[in-house]
Amino acid sequence: MSLVSSYKSTPAAIKSATNTCRQATLLTGDALRLAKTLPDNSIDMIFSSPPYCMGKEYESTNNVSDFLAQHQRLLPELVRILKPGGSLCWQTGNHVKDGVVTPLDSLIISLLISDERVQLRNRVVWSVGHGLHCTNRFSGRHETILWYSKGNNYKFNLDAVRVPQKYPGKRHSKGPRKGELSGNPLGKNPGDVWEIPNVKAHHIEKTAHPCQFPVALPQKFIRALTEQDDLILDPFMGSGSTGVAAIIEGRRFLGSDIDPSYVAIAEERVQSALKGKAKVRAWNQALAEPNPNERVARRPEHFFHAKEPQEI
Ligand SMILES: C[S@@+](CC[C@H](N)C(=O)[O-])C[C@H]1O[C@@H](n2cnc3c(N)ncnc32)[C@H](O)[C@@H]1O
Repeated sequence: MSLVSSYKSTPAAIKSATNTCRQATLLTGDALRLAKTLPDNSIDMIFSSPPYCMGKEYESTNNVSDFLAQHQRLLPELVRILKPGGSLCWQTGNHVKDGVVTPLDSLIISLLISDERVQLRNRVVWSVGHGLHCTNRFSGRHETILWYSKGNNYKFNLDAVRVPQKYPGKRHSKGPRKGELSGNPLGKNPGDVWEIPNVKAHHIEKTAHPCQFPVALPQKFIRALTEQDDLILDPFMGSGSTGVAAIIEGRRFLGSDIDPSYVAIAEERVQSALKGKAKVRAWNQALAEPNPNERVARRPEHFFHAKEPQEI
């Protein structure tokens, strides 16, 4: 059965998607128009990465002022449709034009700072591992996710995302529990810097979409900030990575994208997830160490004759 609906013709279907038990509904169309159609307090979590307005193939502009204007209209609607206790997670990177860098999350923070309905809980740094090498500034190797809760009584299940302790045998060094083991057997808080490889050509999750984020990124937030059957929205879903994460974690998903070809990719991936066959890199998989025997890991001969950095 197709998961895709057109909300242009059936706004009632969207409204019902927020309170029926359907596991996934994918829509083709504009994010703001969709948000305006949704009822107040109807979504448990919003996780998305909007266009950065950098002139990519799915963007009509490369001006940061357009990013700001779009978010001025969109953010109040997203906050309106979020349930009290729900979470808004917004993933962005830098806008770069003529070598000038604007961190897009700084614009989101400035827009939401006076909205008393939401509170910033974390600015998670996503360390992406790879990317373009710059010659006139340091290469960008991170993006961020702003996590806002709607109100102070919000869902947060730390145990669902704990990571192994570095020193599980560590003991309290002072106080009444001196000498006792100090670590949590379930693992430690993962912190706010997450190393997850970005989706490049050889990544198991790679599709034809030019800017996917890895499923593990929304998955970790979904595990920690939502419960079974909660409804997750991604209004700029692209290849449907958030939808795949939501289905794997037993949540419901509502997603949209303006480009029907990306909606088709998303549908294929979400259908695979519903069958338990999604191709994903596990959310808690350790980073691979380079294999020294691989040809690409070996230093070519002329590297040994290059000048040491301090000689340059
Ligand atoms: C950064 S990509 C999202 C990628 C996605 N997170 C993934 O993992 O595939 C942004 C997406 O927003 C879509 N888009 C651009 N303008 C839009 C609009 N006005 N409404 C809805 N989607 C839009 C683009 O087609 C693109 O797929």
